[in-house]
Amino acid sequence: MILLALETTCDETAAAVVTDRLDVLASVVASQEELHRRYGGVVPEIASRAHLENILPVIDEALRKAEISLDEIDAVAVANTPGLAGSLLVGLMAAKAICLSRGIPLVAVNHLQAHIYACRMAAGRDVFPCVGLIVSGGHSNLYRCRGPLDFHFLGGTIDDAAGEAFDKVAAMLGLPYPGGASIERAAAEGNPRAYAFPRALLRDERLDFSFSGLKTAVRYAIEGAGGKGRVSDCTNRKSEIKKQKSPLPSPLSSLPSQLVPDLAASFQEAVVDCLVGKALAALERTDSRILCVGGGVAANRRLRDRLDEEARRRNVELHVAPPDLCTDNAVMGAIAVERLRAGLVEELDLDVLPGLVRNAG
Ligand code: KG4
Ligand code: ZN
Repeated sequence: MILLALETTCDETAAAVVTDRLDVLASVVASQEELHRRYGGVVPEIASRAHLENILPVIDEALRKAEISLDEIDAVAVANTPGLAGSLLVGLMAAKAICLSRGIPLVAVNHLQAHIYACRMAAGRDVFPCVGLIVSGGHSNLYRCRGPLDFHFLGGTIDDAAGEAFDKVAAMLGLPYPGGASIERAAAEGNPRAYAFPRALLRDERLDFSFSGLKTAVRYAIEGAGGKGRVSDCTNRKSEIKKQKSPLPSPLSSLPSQLVPDLAASFQEAVVDCLVGKALAALERTDSRILCVGGGVAANRRLRDRLDEEARRRNVELHVAPPDLCTDNAVMGAIAVERLRAGLVEELDLDVLPGLVRNAG
């Protein structure tokens, strides 16, 4: 059996062709990074329009790479939750059109479960039951995953997602979007102990995260050093957009050259401490020995190294997907194979569900 999986939840248009034995025949990702860079964040309306332009060429490219025709596809899987409403709709409508015209089943994919399933795809073997940590631009959630389709919500961010904090702090530091990768690059030259930034909720019993205070602390540190920072927050005001064209805005460029790397490294360290600390607490709380980590922020080298270190120390089996399966992709949509096995196919009136449903399963 051959599946076509589609992913359009945020700002990547992706298609993959996978078999029911989880062999990946093709994977194509069209990134919209360039389109959103000047705004310092994803603009939903621009994202959905770009999906509309990209979806058919991306599907064609995936079929071409897999060397198969649409007639050979047995089912279409599509992420219909959570995500940006307009973006989700493009993928869902494309999937429905193919299913309707070919008379083949439609399979719904939960994007967050799929991020954890990326670990299963990379491992090449079962990784469940496990604790799942999803750290992306929109989510920082911990789950007890009894199986690929049985997720129990343990905790999540009460304000900004980890990736969102990376993107916003990068904007303040005058670093290009997407912020995660630029902060990681800048941090490589900085001292992670230069600034003692807060680790909110780290000692709290709840398995929740909070990154907005950390973001504010970085802003005060910039101001304390005599800089204004580039933008007070993610904003798309015209004046700010103009400023973003130069690599370092004037208030920051006049400051010591070590400031940005030190702030980036100290910020990154604080986020990593919180993510690692809560993931370990979740393992303990659920008496689990397997940790799976997915989502764009899981591409971060420092986070991966720290997780690796702690997992070894505690004899925990750690699965972090390779970076190209951490950021949004359609290979992780192979979770649809599990749904098909469980007899879970959808009617063609399936709708998008932009918000997070806590206990998916
Ligand atoms: O999972 P993803 O591709 O899309 C969502 O579902 O949100 O995650 C995108 C997020 C962005 O906020 C981006 O800044 C962050 O992942 N990211 C990183 C790194 N690469 C991407 N954050 C930290 N370090 C990285 N290397
Ligand atoms: Zn994602």
